[in-house]
Amino acid sequence: KRPIIFDCDPGHDDAIALVMALACPDWDIRAITTVGGNNTIQNVTNNALRILEVTGRTEIPVASGQAAPFLRELVQTGKFHGRTGMDGHSLPAPTITPVSEDAVGLMADILEKSETPVTLLVTGVFTNIATLLLSYPHLKQKISEISIMGGSYYRGNWSPVAEFNVWADPEAADVVMRAGIPFTLYGLDVTHQAYLRRDEYAALRTYQNPVADFIADLFDFFSKSCIEDRGHPGCLVHDACAVAGLMDPSLFRYMDTSAHMDLDGGITRGGCVIELRPQGWPRKEEVNAKVATWVDRPRFTRLLLDLCASYTHP
Ligand code: BDR
Ligand code: CA
Repeated sequence: KRPIIFDCDPGHDDAIALVMALACPDWDIRAITTVGGNNTIQNVTNNALRILEVTGRTEIPVASGQAAPFLRELVQTGKFHGRTGMDGHSLPAPTITPVSEDAVGLMADILEKSETPVTLLVTGVFTNIATLLLSYPHLKQKISEISIMGGSYYRGNWSPVAEFNVWADPEAADVVMRAGIPFTLYGLDVTHQAYLRRDEYAALRTYQNPVADFIADLFDFFSKSCIEDRGHPGCLVHDACAVAGLMDPSLFRYMDTSAHMDLDGGITRGGCVIELRPQGWPRKEEVNAKVATWVDRPRFTRLLLDLCASYTHP
């Protein structure tokens, strides 16, 4: 089984991504680590614990991580994910607790002990991962690849050019992109193609299992900002792309290119600079990234729904 550490800040789409990942029979999810991003570290950690309870996977350790970005104040996503960071469901407060070790310590421990290299799945702000790489540089060789939701080459969602996960802690994103570890970016260019219409995710209500009901509640909440407020054709599930692409890369098209952060720009601060000029043009930066450009939306939708249907009835 593929060993995985899942670093996240749930988050509606993080929760959907987690539920998909936890249903994958070929994956060994060794830890879920949380980072301050969509909401406070306390709230996103509680949300991760709730997700493990509803999926019945409480054997997986949850470790709480960095509360705030390296150099900047934490800016939360506010109404998009609601007061708790994952509004709209009816799950009770969690009864399990995080492990005593912090996220970076637990990640280092797992990497240190692992006989095979581990895949990192990152669907939140990059602070934990960058802290890990700076504190334990020798462990880079224990990371096989990083599958990331973040960045964009066409436009941003948090500023005209910047996507939230990279904008929130651009210095941390810079560390990850320069680490020399293979990474794949699922940025807004592809995640804006990865939406489910209301008539599509309505199927979740027919599965009659508590996990599918929970996910349907999340879709209902998140749809309002995606469809009504922002005019998307359906509910976006950004973070689910980083999971789906790792499960089945044939769902996506990719380009090999360079991706770097703009740290000192004024209005372009936090933008992700992705080389789109064709081969043959003078390039300053070496290829360091795989960037998703297109998703097969019908097959992506099918995968998401099937994984939610695979949970058992109570
Ligand atoms: C990203 O920002 C967060 O609000 C979402 O969970 C996702 O990871 C999209 O820009
Ligand atoms: Ca997220």
